[in-house]
Amino acid sequence: MVVGGASGIGLATTRAAAAAGAAVAVLDLDGDGARAAAAQAGPGAYGYQLDITDEAAVAATLDRAAADLRGIDTVLHVAGIMRGQGLDVREVTADLWARVIAANLTGPFLVAKHATGHLEAAGGGVLVFVASKAGIVTGSGSVPYGASKGGLHGLALTLARQLRPRGIRVHTLCPGDIDTPLMRRSLDEAARNGADAAGVARVRAGLGRPEDVAAVLTLLAAPAADALDGTVYTS
Ligand code: NAI
Repeated sequence: MVVGGASGIGLATTRAAAAAGAAVAVLDLDGDGARAAAAQAGPGAYGYQLDITDEAAVAATLDRAAADLRGIDTVLHVAGIMRGQGLDVREVTADLWARVIAANLTGPFLVAKHATGHLEAAGGGVLVFVASKAGIVTGSGSVPYGASKGGLHGLALTLARQLRPRGIRVHTLCPGDIDTPLMRRSLDEAARNGADAAGVARVRAGLGRPEDVAAVLTLLAAPAADALDGTVYTS
């Protein structure tokens, strides 16, 4: 199951998982994008509209995906948003803060909460959160984004300790700067908010490929990665 699989890293992950022979469910706020990604992935793939911040919808959509796929053994949680790039902390409204925390921290918590039973029913499984280096090994250009990703890392460490004894392997994957719609919008926002133009141009020139992150995510999902533990970093 790829949560946030309609765009960027998630879309590349949907393609890589399908190419590896997995039956894939794509869940995304962008329902048309989710269905299009599933259609591209092949006849065994399903697409669903889902807002991960809506607990009732998370529970119902995971149940539906589990029924359609006849079980869920892997959850690759890629969905996230970036807002507030380049804003001074004094300019960050409580509303902006709450929106980023809801999408990047509460959403993954709700997905984990409602996926755990399905993973256990499958005899164990894998749960991977895509966080970021921002908020974990470095700061971030966005106050709420850095805070949300640091929190997501803490959530993964906590769930790993709770779920490993029940046969569920939990990781955080922390990518570098990747060429996706999120990253392009974020660089535009940084430039609008007065960030150093040379720095923005340097980041833009050095962006990595979503396919390279997707390859690591599908590797983490595979039984061959069973001995892996903890946080994984990619360039
Ligand atoms: P993207 O914007 O291309 O894709 C994100 C997907 O998440 C979109 O399809 C969007 O509709 C979905 N999404 C957003 N809010 C949602 C919600 N409430 N419910 C369900 N789906 C929702 O972004 P990208 O760059 O592929 O990012 C994927 C993940 O990787 C994010 O968590 C991001 O923070 C993280 N990341 C990205 C980096 C980059 O350089 N692009 C670097 C480090 C981390």
